[in-house]
Amino acid sequence: MPRIPYPGGKGRLSKTIVSFLPKRGRTFVDLFAGKGNIFWEAASQGLDYRDWWLNDISTSRFFHAIKRAGYKLKVPTRSRTEYERQRQASISGDLTAILLEPYLSFSGGGYFSAGCKGGTGRDKNYGGVSASGYERAIHQCHDLMRKTQPRVTNLDWRKLGLQSLSEQDVVFLDPPYPASNVRSYSEDTVGYDELIETLLRARFRWVMCGYLHPLLCRLGEPFWAKDVKLLCVRGEEEGRTECLWSNFRVRTKGRALPPLFRNKLRSLADAASLSFADLDAKVDERLQTVVRDLNALLPYFLEMHSRLCAPGKRTDLRRGAPPELTWTVWVESKRHKLGRSLRTIQYLLRGKTEASQNRQLLLQPHATLRYEPDLTLPETPMEIATEMSRLVLEMRDNTLHEKQRKQRLELLAEHFLRLTGRENLGSILETETDDSEQHRITLN
Ligand SMILES: C[S@@+](CC[C@H](N)C(=O)[O-])C[C@H]1O[C@@H](n2cnc3c(N)ncnc32)[C@H](O)[C@@H]1O
Repeated sequence: MPRIPYPGGKGRLSKTIVSFLPKRGRTFVDLFAGKGNIFWEAASQGLDYRDWWLNDISTSRFFHAIKRAGYKLKVPTRSRTEYERQRQASISGDLTAILLEPYLSFSGGGYFSAGCKGGTGRDKNYGGVSASGYERAIHQCHDLMRKTQPRVTNLDWRKLGLQSLSEQDVVFLDPPYPASNVRSYSEDTVGYDELIETLLRARFRWVMCGYLHPLLCRLGEPFWAKDVKLLCVRGEEEGRTECLWSNFRVRTKGRALPPLFRNKLRSLADAASLSFADLDAKVDERLQTVVRDLNALLPYFLEMHSRLCAPGKRTDLRRGAPPELTWTVWVESKRHKLGRSLRTIQYLLRGKTEASQNRQLLLQPHATLRYEPDLTLPETPMEIATEMSRLVLEMRDNTLHEKQRKQRLELLAEHFLRLTGRENLGSILETETDDSEQHRITLN
C-alpha cells in the first residue's frame, strides 16, 4: 500500500493503526488527513465504508491532483534543478508539481516550508523513496481514490458538522501534536481544548493519535503506545511515545505498553491535579535534583575536556579517543541526550576550563589572551541573533580578535540558516568562502 512522505505522516504506523479501526461503517472521516497515509492503508486493506471523507486545511489540493492526474504521473530523478522547476510551477497550481512535492521536498514537508530533499543537493541519491517507487505509489493512490470516491474538503475541523455523525461513523484524528517541532503546520490551528471537548461528547466512534501531553490527559489512558524516533526538522530527531486513544473498546492482543509508560502517565495525572503552590514546590524540588545530578557529572566533563583539548604532543592523554574527535564535536554528540541542559553544562563549566577562563579574561578591557569561542551553539534563532548582534557591536568597538569573531559569526550564520531551514543559502556562502571548512577546524 502506498505511503506518501509527510512530516508527522503515519506511513510507518499505518498498518498498526488501521488494524485498530472498525472494519466497516457508514462514513470514515480522516479529519486531519495530511497526505492520506491512514486512508491509503484503510482503503488498501478493503475496509468497508459506504462513504470516505478526507479533510485537511492545507493538503486538499494534493488529493485533487491525484484524482485528476495521478494515473499519468512520470516521476523524474531528483535534482536541485528539478526541485526549483517544480517549486516554481507549483505556484500556479501545476498538477505534476503538486504531485511531486512530497517526493522532492525534505521529508515531504513542502516546497516552501521544508526545502529540497537531500539538503545541500550534494548527496548522491538524495535519500528517500526512489522515482519508480514514488510513481508506483501515486498510481496506486489514484486507483484507491477511483475505487472509494472520497469526498475531499479543506475545512477547519470545526466546520465539518461532526455533531451530526452517529455511532455508525468513524472519525480518525491525527492533528498536529502539541509542542511538535514541524514547519509545515503547527498546533496553533487545532484548538485542543475544543477538540478534546468534542471528542468527550461525541456520538460517533473515534480513534485519535497523539503524544503523552497534559492537553490530552483528559482522554484518559491510551489503549496503545509505542516509543518512536521521529525526524522533525533537518537532521533533528525527537524521541516520543506515540499513543492511540479511542472511545470504543479496541482489542490490542495483549500488547504491553512501553516500560516506564505508566510512570509517565502517573506523573502527568499527578501534575494536572496539583494546586499552583504545590506545582511550584514540586518544580523546585525536581530542579534541585537536576542540579545535583548535573554537578555529579561535572568531574567527568572536565576530564573529557582535558583529554580532548590536550595540546598536540600529549597523545598519552588522548589515548583511545578517535583521532579526529574534537571537544566541540563530542559535546555536540551529547546534544540528543542533554537537549537544553547542554547550555547548563556550558554554564557549569564556565571558569573551570582554561578556555573559559581565557574567555572571561577577554571580557576585561585590554586583555590579550587567545580568543576561544563558545563550546556550544545557541539553540534558538533568537539566541543566535542576540549573540551575532553582540559580536557585531564588539567588533565595531574593539578590533582585537577580529578574525576569530568573524569565524564565530560565520558559524552562527550557518547554524541560523540550518535551524531556519535555509541551509542551502548557507552552502552557497560556504562555496564562496573557500576556507570556511578551515575556519570550522580552527574553531574546534
Ligand atoms: C500530523 S498531520 C496528519 C498526517 C497524516 N495522518 C498522514 O499520515 O499523512 C496533521 C495535519 O492536520 C492539518 N490541520 C491542522 N489544523 C487543522 C484544522 N484546524 N483542521 C483540519 N486540518 C488541520 C495540517 O494541515 C496537517 O496536514
